[in-house]
Amino acid sequence: MRILVLHGPNLNLLGRREPEVYGTMTLDGLNRALGAFAAEELEASCPAAGHIDLSFFQSNHEGQLVDCIQNVPRHYDGVVYNPAAHTHYSIALRDAISAVPTPFVEVHLSDIDAREEFRKTSVIADVCIAQFKGEGAASYQKALAFLVDWLVDHER
Ligand code: DQA
Repeated sequence: MRILVLHGPNLNLLGRREPEVYGTMTLDGLNRALGAFAAEELEASCPAAGHIDLSFFQSNHEGQLVDCIQNVPRHYDGVVYNPAAHTHYSIALRDAISAVPTPFVEVHLSDIDAREEFRKTSVIADVCIAQFKGEGAASYQKALAFLVDWLVDHER
């Protein structure tokens, strides 16, 4: 199965950006760790998934992310998506997700419900099949494992 791991604005700065909130792992390190998790753990624990082919994309630009999401059904079976700041206000990205049939899982490194008031609103959550937050890189692993199970269950 083909899965896109999509990262929103400022996540290219991971490792340097507020490490007390987001940790010290770089975006490249996070992507590589997720690739290893898929290959070494998920494929073994979920043979029905077959080969899990992960791709990664990060953008700081809302329109570029909208374009990417519109093209998702042609290339991917599912998406693990950290919308970053767009989580809290981007109706354009919410509408893009609604416009495609592909399942999305929302993910956050930090616990958005335990921070500033404005972070408690996600305009993305109810167009995604699940949300994982607050566990750093493990949030991404749990989101990916959930998505793989969901795709197997729904025979996608
Ligand atoms: C984030 C949380 C958002 O509120 C914030 O704007 C981000 C990162 C997270 O992964 O914890 O950029 O999505």
